[in-house]
Amino acid sequence: MNTVLDVRNLQVEFQVGNRPVKAVDNISFRLQRGQTLGIVGESGSGKSVTALATMGLVPPPGRISAGEIWFQSVSDEGEAAEPVNLLSLPETQMQHYRGGEISMIFQEPMSSLNPVYTCGFQLTEAIRLHQDIAQPEARRRAINLLQEVRLLPSDEELEQRVREELSSRSGQPSDRDVREEINRQKHAMLDRYPHELSGGQIQRVMIAMAISCNPSLLIADEPTTALDVTVQATILDLLRELRDRRGMSIIFITHDLGLVAEIADNVAVMYQGKVVEYNSVLEIFSNPQHPYTKGLITCRPTPNRRLRYLPTVADFMEVTRNDRGEMVIREKALDVNQALRANREVSDAELNSRLVQLQTRSPLLSVQNLQVGFPIRGVFGKTDRQVMAVNNVSFDVYPGETLGLVGESGCGKTTLARSLFATGQTDRRAGIV
Ligand SMILES: Nc1ncnc2c1ncn2[C@@H]1O[C@H](COP(=O)(O)OP(=O)(O)OP(=O)(O)O)[C@@H](O)[C@H]1O
Ligand SMILES: [Mg+2]
Repeated sequence: MNTVLDVRNLQVEFQVGNRPVKAVDNISFRLQRGQTLGIVGESGSGKSVTALATMGLVPPPGRISAGEIWFQSVSDEGEAAEPVNLLSLPETQMQHYRGGEISMIFQEPMSSLNPVYTCGFQLTEAIRLHQDIAQPEARRRAINLLQEVRLLPSDEELEQRVREELSSRSGQPSDRDVREEINRQKHAMLDRYPHELSGGQIQRVMIAMAISCNPSLLIADEPTTALDVTVQATILDLLRELRDRRGMSIIFITHDLGLVAEIADNVAVMYQGKVVEYNSVLEIFSNPQHPYTKGLITCRPTPNRRLRYLPTVADFMEVTRNDRGEMVIREKALDVNQALRANREVSDAELNSRLVQLQTRSPLLSVQNLQVGFPIRGVFGKTDRQVMAVNNVSFDVYPGETLGLVGESGCGKTTLARSLFATGQTDRRAGIV
C-alpha cells in the first residue's frame, strides 16, 4: 500500500491585527491509497484551512509558514510517480495537481455552483479545463458522470422507464422514439439550473465535477452537513462506492463523529489548529486517548436521554497556557459519568408536567388546516395547477414552548416557517390556501 499524501509539520498563519494567529499549528498525517481519512473537530479548529492548504488555496492574508505536503500520483497504468512537495511547486505546476490529481468539494455547495449557469454548462467547463475535448464530447462525458453519481438513472433503467412512460401514453413506442426520449431526458438534466435541484442533487453535481478529472485524492469538506439524514446516507454510500471503484483516497471533513464512524479508516481529531489525536477509526471510538476526543464522543446527543444542560467538551478538559504561551490540555479530574450525572437527566414525569404547565395558558400561535401551494406554470405562463408544499397542517404553540419541526428534505418545513412569518403573503411564488 502506498502513501498518497504525507503532510509534515504543516503550519498556516493568519495575520490578525498585528499578530500572526496559527490556524493550523504543526500538524502531520498520512493518507494511503484507496483509504479515507476523517478530519473532525469543532468549528474554527482548522479543518478547512488544512484542506485549502493541500489545494494550494489558502486565502490571503493567510500563509503557509512551515511544513511540507508530499503528494504521490499514480498513472492510469498503476505506475507510481516520484512524490512531490506541493508547497515547493510554482503556481503553474500546482494548477496541474489542483482539480487534476486532487479535487475538492467545498463546504458550501450552494455557493460553489453559479446560479446563472446550468449545471451542465458548469460541469462541462470543469471537464474541459483539464481535458482538451470539444463541447459535444464534454456533454457526453458529463452525462456519464451524472449517471455515475446517480443523478441520472443508468442507460438500462432509463430505457425501461421511458418505454413504460411512452407505452402508457400511446401504445408500443418505436425504438427511435425511445432513443430520442432517453436523449431528451439526459440533456434536460444537464440544462437544469442549480435552483431547480435539491440540496442532495446539487451535492451530486459537485461530486460529479470533483471526480470529472479522475483524481487520486478527493477532499470533501462537510459534504453532507446541510442534508437530512436519509440523503446524507445516500451521499456517503456514493462516496464510498466511488472510492472503491476508482481507487481514490478521500479526506472527509466533518464535525459529525457519526459520519466519521461510517466512512473513515483513520481519523485526525483537530482542536485549535492542532491534531490532538490521530488513529484508526476503531481505536478512536473504542479507546480514545485525548480528553478532547473523549469529550466529543460523550457529548453526542442521544435520543434516549434528555439532559438539563448539554455537556460540552469543556466539561471534560481544562485548557491552560504554559510560560511559552503553548496550549496545555488536561483531563478534568471529574470522570465522564460524573459529568453526565452532574448534568442530570430530565425525567419523563418532569417533561410531562412541563407540558401540562405550558398548556394552562392559551396558545400563542394556533395554526389550523394550513395549506401552502406553489403554482406550476404551464404553456404561455398560465397557472394550470398547484403543488401543495404544506398540506392541511394544524398545531398550537404555547408561550415558552419549543416546537420541533422535523422531516426529510423537501417535506415543507421551510415553506411552513416562512408562511408563519408573513401570513397571507409568503414567497412570491407561494399562495396560502
Ligand atoms: N480568511 C481568514 N481570515 C482570518 N482568519 C481565518 C480566515 N479563514 C480562517 N481563519 C482562521 O482559521 C481558523 C480555522 O478556520 P477553518 O475554516 O479551518 O475552521 P473549520 O475547522 O473548517 O471550521 P468549521 O467547522 O466552522 O468549518 C479559524 O479559527 C479562523 O480564525
Ligand atoms: Mg470548515
